[in-house]
Amino acid sequence: MTIFHVGIDLGTSRTTLTTSTGQRLTTMSCVGYPKDVISQKRLKKDHLLGAEALNNRLSLNLIWPLADGVMREDALSVASTKLILQDIIAQALPEKSANDQIYAAIGVPAQASISNKKALITLSQGLVDKILVVSEPFAVAYSIDRFDECLIVDIGAGTTDLCRMHGSMPDADDQRTLTYAGNFLDNELTQAILHKFPKVQLTPQIIKRIKEKHGFVYDVSEPVLVKLTEQGIPKEYDITDVLRASCLKLTDPISQAVQQLVGSFDPDFQEKLRNNVIVAGGGSRLKGIDNAIEKSLGAYGGGSVTCVQDAEYCGSVGALKMCVEMPEDYWENL
Ligand SMILES: Nc1ncnc2c1ncn2[C@@H]1O[C@H](COP(=O)(O)OP(=O)(O)O)[C@@H](O)[C@H]1O
Ligand SMILES: [Mg+2]
Repeated sequence: MTIFHVGIDLGTSRTTLTTSTGQRLTTMSCVGYPKDVISQKRLKKDHLLGAEALNNRLSLNLIWPLADGVMREDALSVASTKLILQDIIAQALPEKSANDQIYAAIGVPAQASISNKKALITLSQGLVDKILVVSEPFAVAYSIDRFDECLIVDIGAGTTDLCRMHGSMPDADDQRTLTYAGNFLDNELTQAILHKFPKVQLTPQIIKRIKEKHGFVYDVSEPVLVKLTEQGIPKEYDITDVLRASCLKLTDPISQAVQQLVGSFDPDFQEKLRNNVIVAGGGSRLKGIDNAIEKSLGAYGGGSVTCVQDAEYCGSVGALKMCVEMPEDYWENL
């Protein structure tokens, strides 16, 4: 019998997995179900996952079970979460035989780790043999060996999760979940572009591409010119100002939350906390975000902010590490 250890980061938009056998996988946290008999006939499947679901989204009802930072607990959402986990685990461990065992540590949005823990454990029955549910920012801290006083800010799509580390297990008071995250920024940017250029044609995918390629939060930048269409006719548009203004709307509420977690901490350690803010998640790739958060912390007495190296995998790498190191009594046996 072999025991496989897997670390999973079950995010609002993306799920990544790292195994003790050296596998690394990523998929979108969504499941698509055919809309009607025609789409069922065409797709010849009950459900599609990840990128395949996104590519066929016009004929599917797409379910993002964790989009709001908690897992919706209706039957379809629970079944969808299970399908996402089942599929990514099966892909990562094709060599697993019937009597092998899987131990999984799963990082989920901070709020989900508090309110959906039981449901997550229940739905994992039959998929894994032992499970540990942790909050994503804690998994990030674990991946970079930061257990001393520091503050992890994990900027995802649906939520930004903050977690205060202080040398022991963080509890509910140490964590905050904000909805100021990637999807919020996409929304702001869509509205700002439409306000300036009311007739351009935008989709969520176009906005996301623009944000990920050009998004920035520093004072001066080269002009950002993007090609968009108006009634199908392509033209270049200068979106430098609206892009910057939208991106900045993300950093202020995050800095406020950082300050709340610092301000309610043991005064002897507040200085250390504020000077050790670590930004992770897809949002940490926004150009200049570390400096922008640092600058807005200026209003509260300053601070020092850095971004993690491996924004994509650090959550699942941390979960895997926990999986290997956590003592028996932290686990749930299934
Ligand atoms: N270069 C980038 N600049 C700005 N945002 C980015 C960049 N790359 C990814 N993102 C955003 O990060 C978010 C996804 O982050 P991720 O940590 O995967 O989320 P989650 O853990 O919630 O699934 C999305 O909103 C995505 O558009
Ligand atoms: Mg995440």
